[in-house]
Amino acid sequence: MTETGSNAAFSADRLLLFGATGDLSQRMLLPSLCALTHDGLLSPDLRIVGTARSEMTDGEFRNFAREALEKYLPPKRRGGMAEFLNRLSYQALDATTIEGFDELAKKVGEPRQGLAIFLSTAPSLFEPTIAGLQSAGLAGPNVRIGLEKPLGTDLASSREINDAVAMAFSEDRIFRIDHYLGKETVQNLLALRFANIMFEPIWNASYIDHVQITVAETVGLESRVAYYDDSGALRDMVQNHMLQLLALVAMEPPTSFDSTAVRDEKVKVLRSLRPVKDGETVTGQYRAGAIEGRTVPGYDDELGKDSDTETFVAIKAHVDNWRWKGVPFYLRTGKRLPERVTEIVIQFRCIPFSIFEGRGAKTQPNRLVIGIQPEENVHLSLMAKVPGLDREGLRLRPVPLDISMPDAFAGAVKRIAYERLLLDLVEGDQTLFVRRDEVEAQWEWIDAIRNGWAESGLEPKPYSAGNWGPSAAIALAERDGVSWHD
Ligand code: BG6
Repeated sequence: MTETGSNAAFSADRLLLFGATGDLSQRMLLPSLCALTHDGLLSPDLRIVGTARSEMTDGEFRNFAREALEKYLPPKRRGGMAEFLNRLSYQALDATTIEGFDELAKKVGEPRQGLAIFLSTAPSLFEPTIAGLQSAGLAGPNVRIGLEKPLGTDLASSREINDAVAMAFSEDRIFRIDHYLGKETVQNLLALRFANIMFEPIWNASYIDHVQITVAETVGLESRVAYYDDSGALRDMVQNHMLQLLALVAMEPPTSFDSTAVRDEKVKVLRSLRPVKDGETVTGQYRAGAIEGRTVPGYDDELGKDSDTETFVAIKAHVDNWRWKGVPFYLRTGKRLPERVTEIVIQFRCIPFSIFEGRGAKTQPNRLVIGIQPEENVHLSLMAKVPGLDREGLRLRPVPLDISMPDAFAGAVKRIAYERLLLDLVEGDQTLFVRRDEVEAQWEWIDAIRNGWAESGLEPKPYSAGNWGPSAAIALAERDGVSWHD
C-alpha cells in the first residue's frame, strides 16, 4: 500500500509534467520553467520529465519545447534555454491504463530528495492517473502533486477527484492550482491590506458601501470549444479565480503569512457566502459584434451549434459575517467584453456630515481601485478643494492618488504567474494553493446558483460582443443605486 503520510519539507529534484504537449504546457509551464532556469532559481539537479499520449523521443520533445519557448517567452528571458532544454526528457503514456506507468517511473528514476508532479490533463484522467502513479510507486511520501483545474464540474465530482487523490497523497502534498494566486498583483492585495495601517480600520461595513470585482476578457472561445461549452463563465471563472479574489478582499487578518493561517481565513469567508437569491444573478451570451475595431462572430457561430452556455455572469453576493453585514459584493466576468481588465473596486461610504455643504460644495465618497491586470496600479480617489478664491462658493472635486506598480518597482521582472506556482510546488510551499475545504466551499455556493438557474429556467441574455454584458447586468447594480466602474 502506498503511504499517504507526509514528509512535506523537501525540495524536489524531479518534476513530472502530465499534459506536457498541451496548450498550458506550451504557453505557460515550459516558458515559466525556462525563465526560472534563466534566473538561476531552479536547482541545477532538477530534471524534468514530460509525458503525454503522443509518441516522441527526448530530442523531439526538446524541439517541441524550443518552439514553445520561441513563441511564448520574450527573448530577454530565454537566456537559460540550452540549460533548460538539457533538463528535459519525455515518456509517452496512455494514462487510462496502468501499463505504461512502470516505464514512466523508470524514466523519472530515483529522486535524491523528492518528486513534484504537475497534472494538467482532462479531469476524466485524474483517477486513472492517480491509480497508475500509486501502482508504479510514484506516490510515496517524497512525492507531491499539483492539480490544474478543472477539478470537477460540481461539488460531487470535485469530492470524487479529491477523494481519489487523497487515497494516494496527504493534503499537505496536494497543491491545487488557481493561477490567479500566482499573480504578483493578487498577492499584493495582502500587502495592501496587512502591511499598511490605514486601510484595515475602515475595511468593514461601517465604512465600505460595496465592493465590485470585475474580470473582463476580450477573447472568445479560443480553441477550447468542448471544455468551455460544458463549463460556462460561472464555473470557469467565478468558482475559482473570482471567489479567491473575494476571499482575499474579505478575509480577517491571518495570524501569519503561512499556508494554514492564510487558508484558514479564506475558507471562513467562503463558508460565509450567502446563497444567492433569484434575481441576484444575470447571465449573458455574446452575439456577433466588434472589439477594438475588429468584427467578431457570436458564440453560437464560433461553437458551430446553438448553446445555452453563459459567457457572461454578474452576481450580487453577500458575505454573512460581522465585518461585511449589508455590504454587497458585485461580481462580473465575461468573454468578448470591451477590454481586458481585472480590478477590484472598494467603494467607501459618504462622510457622515459635510461642513462644506453650506458653502455649496458637494462631496463624493472615496473609492479605492486595485488594478490587477493589464494595468497594475492602485488608485485612491480623494476629495480636494478646487483652487480659487471661492467667491461663488467653494468647490470640491475628487482627485486621484495613483500608484503604478511598474513605476514604483521599475526594473522588477514581470513574471508569469506559473513561475511562482511551479517554484512553490518544487519547494513545497502551499500558501498560494487552494485547500480542499476551500474548493468545496466554493463549489457548494456555485452549485446552489446553478440549481437556482435550473429551477427558474434562466436563459442567458444576448449581448453584442464589445459591450459590458446584457443590460440586465447594469440594472442589477443600478437597482441599488450603484454603477459599475467601467
Ligand atoms: C482560465 C480560464 O482559468 O483563466 C480562461 O479557463 C480564462 O477561460 C483565463 O481566459 C484567464 O486568465 P488570465 O490570467 O488571462 O486572466
